[in-house]
Amino acid sequence: MNAINCIAERMSIRSFKEDPVPESTLREVLTLAGRSPSYKNSQPWEVMVLSGARKAALTVEMTRLLESGAPQTPDLADPTSWPEAEEGRIHSLYQKRKETTGIDLADPSVIIRAKKANFAFYGAPHALYLYQDNSLSLWSLFDLGLFAQTLMLAAQAHGLGTVPQAFVTDYAAEIKQFLGIPTQKRLVLGLSIGYPNMESPANKLKTDRSPIDDFVRFVC
Ligand SMILES: Cc1cc2nc3c(=O)[nH]c(=O)nc-3n(C[C@H](O)[C@H](O)[C@H](O)COP(=O)(O)O)c2cc1C
Repeated sequence: MNAINCIAERMSIRSFKEDPVPESTLREVLTLAGRSPSYKNSQPWEVMVLSGARKAALTVEMTRLLESGAPQTPDLADPTSWPEAEEGRIHSLYQKRKETTGIDLADPSVIIRAKKANFAFYGAPHALYLYQDNSLSLWSLFDLGLFAQTLMLAAQAHGLGTVPQAFVTDYAAEIKQFLGIPTQKRLVLGLSIGYPNMESPANKLKTDRSPIDDFVRFVC
């Protein structure tokens, strides 16, 4: 699969087959992700790959925290407001997701169900956590974003599906303790990874993008 196909065909996958991914494939995907550019080649990324009993236990723990009403402890704060253009795009996504999957993320009661599906890593056989030292600057956060995208494209090239997940960092303090990640690390992103179940309605959502003239200015 060439790079253009990988970029064009990647989409967030929210239903997976149970089949585990061979460790050699996960290693290849992570090796390719490690080719990402970074500020002064500092490579400010650390990854935990979770599978099997440990992943299942984390799902139980995050669900317990949610159901107990425990306060969230994310290392990256949830946005509280958005500029108009971005807010409009989020609204369009919610509308489209409601039409395609019946999930209305604007409805607070649905959010609980959606969070539980996130905490179960949408049935994926593996979950990845991306983290880095919290003394690193915003540039390093940017670098970790580049790493995440390279990882998702490399996974796509291997026939794997992924979804980046902020929700699975809601309880960062507890998750880090559970996984033995030092407190001075910031837990930036979770990702589910596995073979996509393309029969599922959850994977029927192909999101829109704004036309480039909405966000590009050619100047000469
Ligand atoms: C930083 C980040 C956090 C995200 N968090 C979640 C999440 O918690 N749960 C989820 O289902 N999708 C999550 N997504 C996926 C986005 O909703 C998705 O990328 C966006 O709607 C565009 O759709 P696409 O990935 O299918 O192109 C996240 C994406 C990013 C980049």
